[in-house]
Amino acid sequence: MAFPLHRYRRLRLSESLRAMVRETTLDPADFIAPMFVVPGEGVRQPIPSMPGIDRVSPDLAAEDASELAARGVLSVILFGIPDHKDAVGSPSADLTGPVCRAVETIKAASPATVVMTDVCLCEYTDHGHCGVIVDQSVDNDATLPILAAEALAHARAGADVVAPSDMMDGRVRAIRDVLDASGYRNVPILSYAAKYASGFYGPFREAAESTPAFGDRRAYQMDPANVREAVKEILSDVEEGADMVMVKPALSYLDVVRAAKEVTNVPLATYNVSGEYAMVKAAAERGWIDGKRVTLEILTSMKRAGADLILTYHAKEAAEWLQGR
Ligand code: PBG
Repeated sequence: MAFPLHRYRRLRLSESLRAMVRETTLDPADFIAPMFVVPGEGVRQPIPSMPGIDRVSPDLAAEDASELAARGVLSVILFGIPDHKDAVGSPSADLTGPVCRAVETIKAASPATVVMTDVCLCEYTDHGHCGVIVDQSVDNDATLPILAAEALAHARAGADVVAPSDMMDGRVRAIRDVLDASGYRNVPILSYAAKYASGFYGPFREAAESTPAFGDRRAYQMDPANVREAVKEILSDVEEGADMVMVKPALSYLDVVRAAKEVTNVPLATYNVSGEYAMVKAAAERGWIDGKRVTLEILTSMKRAGADLILTYHAKEAAEWLQGR
């Protein structure tokens, strides 16, 4: 038998052949675009460590969401930066706060956009932790009703999906119960089920002013070394009623994405976080990598690993590149 019998290169010889045997494709509808919303009107503040991403007031958030929709990006997720904070994060449930206002303006301007809201307290507490502090540590059970009230406020404002990112145990169930009891049975929950205590959140914390004033998040977010534990987190969130689950960050956790895909049939999202975005932008700015090529390769790897949806700051540019392909 002449060697090589199998010539894998045969199917790589033209772009048409390559397209025919391509196993993974990206679509703008795969992307969920994160947005940082601030109070006021006409406000647009660039975030230095995240070139291309701004903090915007609700009126401009609506313009951005419409532009994204025109490019085929069907969903956004909102993070609020309130004008005041307190020990228990009470501004998180403020119906006049930036998140609730932006939900309204976006739904009015772009009704087809699926508006998701991040449910967490770190942007709303004066100490920057994701829950309330009792004896110097974040108290799980005391935090649950506050998160549920936040999710309920978002649902009242018209949010299509609520997405808890706090990593308290039992929060999916607590949120589901309150939504169901208040007439929001049809509002789905996207749970940040496996969220790691990661160094890749740096630029986000600058953007959202949510760096903890003392200590760190390792007593509630997951240890980066663990994958079996991620499977437990995912399965219990699905059991508590999560409609979709997420692995976060994405790039250094693609094995976790794959493990999640193997154990659950609910739609799986992964979060291409701020530090991952900043690294690509910084290297591309210096001409050290081809930003477009690397970005599309990274996003493809996330889908190939098993993600159905990708939360990414690249959403708008990637959608443009895909449309122009
Ligand atoms: C917490 C939250 C964080 C991110 C999303 N939700 C920050 C954190 O846990 O410290 C990070 C997202 C990113 O880095 O892009 N509300």
